[in-house]
Amino acid sequence: MDNNRVYVFDTTLRDGEQVPGCQLTTVEKIIVAKELEALGVDVIEAGFPISSPGDFQSVVEISKAVSEPVICALTRANTADIDAAAAALKYAKRKRIHTGIGSSDMHIKYKFNSTRENILERAVEAVKYARKFVDDIEFYAEDAGRADNEYLARMIEAVIAAGATVVNIPDTNGYCLPEQYGAKIKYLMDHVSNIDKAIISVHCHNDLGLATANTIAGVMNGARQVECTINGIGERAGNTSLEEVAMILKTHHALGYTTGINSKKIYEISNLVSNMMRMPVQPNKAIVGRNAFAHSSGIHQDGVLKHRENYEILNPEDIGLQSNSIILTARSGRHALKHHLERLGYKIDKINIDEVYARFLEMADTKKEITDHDLLVLMGDGNADH
Ligand code: KIV
Ligand code: ZN
Repeated sequence: MDNNRVYVFDTTLRDGEQVPGCQLTTVEKIIVAKELEALGVDVIEAGFPISSPGDFQSVVEISKAVSEPVICALTRANTADIDAAAAALKYAKRKRIHTGIGSSDMHIKYKFNSTRENILERAVEAVKYARKFVDDIEFYAEDAGRADNEYLARMIEAVIAAGATVVNIPDTNGYCLPEQYGAKIKYLMDHVSNIDKAIISVHCHNDLGLATANTIAGVMNGARQVECTINGIGERAGNTSLEEVAMILKTHHALGYTTGINSKKIYEISNLVSNMMRMPVQPNKAIVGRNAFAHSSGIHQDGVLKHRENYEILNPEDIGLQSNSIILTARSGRHALKHHLERLGYKIDKINIDEVYARFLEMADTKKEITDHDLLVLMGDGNADH
């Protein structure tokens, strides 16, 4: 086994789909699941089967339609949920039940009105029960981000002994700082005696904008599964975004971590999920935002035209984009203007560029962005058939 292989667990169709207004039909979910398979994710969390007949059916149909990734179904720590998950996964070639319970004192007291010992017993019972149906069991210790580390380590050790093969340490409320979350993963690596029998998974929420940073901190401290969604969609401020983690690990390849992600599929699936879920991607979103490879200031445009890597640490082609873009605005310089005029077929040596640039600036001051058609007008070819 490659110790630096990081497994990608996608929960777009479960945690992502919980977002109000993002619900998909079963047919739409199958389309996304097949794209996730083509993207190369290792695990698809297909739904929470007991939550509704529709969700149950989606897990059934995704299990039939997808063959490479493991298909995972979520449950709470009770037999009815686990029965429903096992039934929904019937047709999956490779299947996983994802069961769990709260681990922070906050959840134990105010969500379950219970005690640490009782919750620990329920966790163990749920894992043992799920093991009757499948061999691949992931246990989540909900709100682990705020849980006491010593208690969390006891819980994780007990569920691994009961048969859990993956242990998920969610920062359910997006509370932790990267140093804290990384230290929590390291604590578990150092204090759970049977940790070598399971994979630690990281599942981070973005309430403080730290989901990706926390996920990377988790990996650097021993986690080997990352739970993510396309475009970072998910409860409240969202989950860790898959494209960010994939491109961080690719860009910092010197760290030695690898994934099975075919990054060239990232842009396509980002668009698919955004359109299907009617959830626009913010323009300045890392990796997949409209402006992520768009250069608009004169200094940056000049630098990029001289050498792309002056202002790009990522290659747009690596995420499936044809090229970066040089946006013409009133902040653009002569270099960017020449670049676009040449692209439109004008011979720069036959043009008085200072004079054209002065007229360009006058026009650009009246508009947010200068289009190809605007340039043709500027050059006196406004009626040209382009
Ligand atoms: O955020 C969370 O704790 C979850 C669990 C159900 C894994 O989504
Ligand atoms: Zn979550």
